[in-house]
Amino acid sequence: MPNPPLNNLTQAQFLRRHWQKKPLLARASLPQFAPLVSRRDLLEMAQSPDTEARLIIRNGRRWQVTYGPFRKRDFTRLPARNWTLLVQCVNHVLPAAQDLLDRFAFIPHARLDDLMVSYAPPGGGVGPHFDSYDVFLLQGEGRRQWQISRQRDLTLVENAPLKILRNFHPTQEWKLSPGDMLYLPPNCAHDGIALEECITYSVGFRAPSAQELCSRFLDYLQDNLQAPGRYTDPHLKPARQPGRIDRHMVQGMMRLLRHAQPDRAGMLRFIGEDLSTPKPHVVFTPPQRPQTAARFALSAARRGLRLAPQSILLYDDRAFYVNGEHCMLPAAARPAIRRLADRRRLAPASLPKAALETLYMWYRSGYLEPGIPE
Ligand code: SIN
Ligand code: CO
Repeated sequence: MPNPPLNNLTQAQFLRRHWQKKPLLARASLPQFAPLVSRRDLLEMAQSPDTEARLIIRNGRRWQVTYGPFRKRDFTRLPARNWTLLVQCVNHVLPAAQDLLDRFAFIPHARLDDLMVSYAPPGGGVGPHFDSYDVFLLQGEGRRQWQISRQRDLTLVENAPLKILRNFHPTQEWKLSPGDMLYLPPNCAHDGIALEECITYSVGFRAPSAQELCSRFLDYLQDNLQAPGRYTDPHLKPARQPGRIDRHMVQGMMRLLRHAQPDRAGMLRFIGEDLSTPKPHVVFTPPQRPQTAARFALSAARRGLRLAPQSILLYDDRAFYVNGEHCMLPAAARPAIRRLADRRRLAPASLPKAALETLYMWYRSGYLEPGIPE
């Protein structure tokens, strides 16, 4: 893997000192960083249903937010200053973005959210706020001023169309030039304002809140629950207080409710499926004229293959999880599929039959593509 852009820190040092703890400013972290997108590309991507885009315009203390997909004409009458266009999931529509994400592969894939790219003319930004995510803010073209604060007060302006901190008291300020990068842990108050036309790349890492995770777990249980039996009371005695729920009834009901607590295997399956579930807008496009299984095997041996940009493939000791689906594979298939999950690509090589069968199925679903870029 290429080195992560963390200046002189090793990956372990960065994780120990900064990750989830405190900001890191890395000057010239990627001095050779070739811009991945131009303003024009970004405006085009904001018109695609495969990304999620927001246009944020500031007028004094008033903020206006509109959501994509946009039409070309939405961009024709924008002011000269004080707005920004943010496009999420750029890595889904721009395969070249994978090289940048590869630099962050020292953080598990299951933590990655997406690559967001923003464009702003001078004065543009999203206002002082905090995120629930870890984020690496890499400066592309132009300069941006970042202010951050260690404040604990995260009260938001009421009734604003986006998250704006009511009281922002910056404690540090930097001007970032192309190639500089700022890492921010969750809940760190920050505000980035474009000093000139600028493009900023945000590599964001998600962490579910307990509330979100438990609520998805309840959905999972609802769909997967096996709860045999029924409440019985063959030893019932005449009730003197028929309105009372008595001790025996409580015990019997509690015994039944224990079925709602799945075993470890059920929880592991939920975790894998949940972490590998793509965002709701993601769709996979199966190949229009698919290769035969034999051609596919030949092409994998000669040209390798890679995951589709929006695919999420993870594994644990027991199973594989691809785009929210759990899948058990024979031992002979596992090493190659684990390699694919780790690197998102497989170099040209002839693969075991067991692996090819699964890979071919995934290819037919649009989860992976033959060939790897040079
Ligand atoms: C950006 O404006 O590119 C980043 C927005 C943020 O601070 O989350
Ligand atoms: Co932010």
